[in-house]
Amino acid sequence: MSIIEERMSQLTEEVKKLKKERNAIILAHVYQRPEVQEVADIIGDSLELSRRAAATDADVIVFCGVHFMAESAAILSPDKVVLLPEENAGCPMADMVTAEQLRAKKQEMPDAVVVAYVNTSAEVKAESDICCTSANAVKIVQSIPEDRPIIFIPDKNLGAYVASKTGRPMTLWEGWCNTHDWVTVEEVLKAKEAHPQALVLIHPECRPEVVALADYVSSTTGLIKYARESEAKEFIIGTESGILHQLYKQCPGKEFYLATRRLVCPNMKATTLGKVKEALITMQPRITVPPQIREKALACLEKMLAVK
Ligand code: 13P
Ligand code: SF4
Repeated sequence: MSIIEERMSQLTEEVKKLKKERNAIILAHVYQRPEVQEVADIIGDSLELSRRAAATDADVIVFCGVHFMAESAAILSPDKVVLLPEENAGCPMADMVTAEQLRAKKQEMPDAVVVAYVNTSAEVKAESDICCTSANAVKIVQSIPEDRPIIFIPDKNLGAYVASKTGRPMTLWEGWCNTHDWVTVEEVLKAKEAHPQALVLIHPECRPEVVALADYVSSTTGLIKYARESEAKEFIIGTESGILHQLYKQCPGKEFYLATRRLVCPNMKATTLGKVKEALITMQPRITVPPQIREKALACLEKMLAVK
């Protein structure tokens, strides 16, 4: 065992011990570092993690993800202590819409239903009608009466995908994920040329022209399930690199190629095992949401969770 491996295994044991002492649950998004995923109780996509945050009976939720995810946990479980081990782990896409900007848009379109991708701040959720994640966005939009116009925030790429699937015209916000929006058609075509047998699995945060090249489009959990159940042995992956850990774990004997090496979200990689340990010792950084915002944002999240 190398010194680094030894240190990792020591840290892992320390985190597990602290987790028990604090009656804490660790939730990790699939984009997290492999060693962080390994100490987690639940690893999942945004939808699964929201559901688990709403249902847990632990006293403490350690959210290994980015700020809006921990905030959603704090909205859904106000009596729990919610910790975000790296407090600067934000989501640049979530920052592309503010509550003030949204209020102005709503004034322009007073009849519209606002569908907010879960990648938004609590304040923005409080101004929205219903949340969605990449796993349920199509269903959520289909649940809205046909005569109502829709404002979809903030991801124009996910919005375009949902519009194409549902046939619903929507006003799309000018927002995007820096990590997924970087994937180009040329990169995917080059990967296909290098691996002609591979199926192309793409996250809907990628640009429409990249999504058009996909054999399958889904949330991160959906992509993992597809790879696991597929007869194919090779896959080109159009989503953040952290997913590779679960893909290799859950799909033995299969091979995965990232569409581009730039598929790395620095915010998702900011959480380390050391920071998880520190958070469990100090019970900081703690994420809270003011009650007046929480109440409205909760309605928006609960409406989403009620759509089956
Ligand atoms: P999902 O895991 O819900 O597909 O989310 C993708 C993402 O970019 C989260 O920040
Ligand atoms: Fe935000 Fe994209 Fe990073 Fe997800 S991958 S946290 S959407 S910047």
